[in-house]
Amino acid sequence: MNEDELKRSAAQAAIDYIKPRLDSKSIIGVGTGSTTNHFIDALADIRHLFDATVSSSDASSERLRGHGIQVLDLNAVGEVTFYVDGADEVDPQRALIKGGGGALTREKIVAASADEFVCIVDESKLVNILGQFPLPVEVIPMARGLAARALLALGGAPEWREGIITDNGNILLDVHELSITQPAELEMTINNIVGVVANGIFAAQAADVVFVAAPAGVRRL
Ligand code: A5P
Repeated sequence: MNEDELKRSAAQAAIDYIKPRLDSKSIIGVGTGSTTNHFIDALADIRHLFDATVSSSDASSERLRGHGIQVLDLNAVGEVTFYVDGADEVDPQRALIKGGGGALTREKIVAASADEFVCIVDESKLVNILGQFPLPVEVIPMARGLAARALLALGGAPEWREGIITDNGNILLDVHELSITQPAELEMTINNIVGVVANGIFAAQAADVVFVAAPAGVRRL
């Protein structure tokens, strides 16, 4: 099984998990990335079982609409039953690094709005300590230097993802050389840096369920 097939089987596990609990009023939160794209494609087959979706990126919204799946504004919906999304790293407590695709802020907003966060990954994303994957931080453009210096002071090595502007009109700093032993604390500390919009540590919104795909099958974390 190659990586893409593993991602597809993690996505299918999420479909199997949510399907029995959907009804005609259900709103599904949808993440961003190559694993989530498999989820979106599989969601098309069960679109008669739920009401609509809310999306974490323009790219996912476009893909959902391409399948004839309704995408609503988050402010127009009440309860979001599930949020389904991939991750760049997953630790044993189900804390995550996300934002490799640059959509971390909207992903965090939709995750925080959902009753249950279902994360889908292939086994290469599992780590004991978060931080090998450079931590994405979304920053207001004029605060780029200020935020970078504050991240340096925290022991990281921030790198500007040049040429990339987020769906929210901001820039991204990818912070290398962090060993994130206290994800919840670091998430809060980085959020307190002036000019930071959000960072890619999902500890306050850790996943409730993680489906991990390996060649031997999918297991639940
Ligand atoms: C998007 O901003 C990210 O948070 C993705 O969820 C993450 O990068 C995982 O992406 P893949 O499913 O493409 O590996």
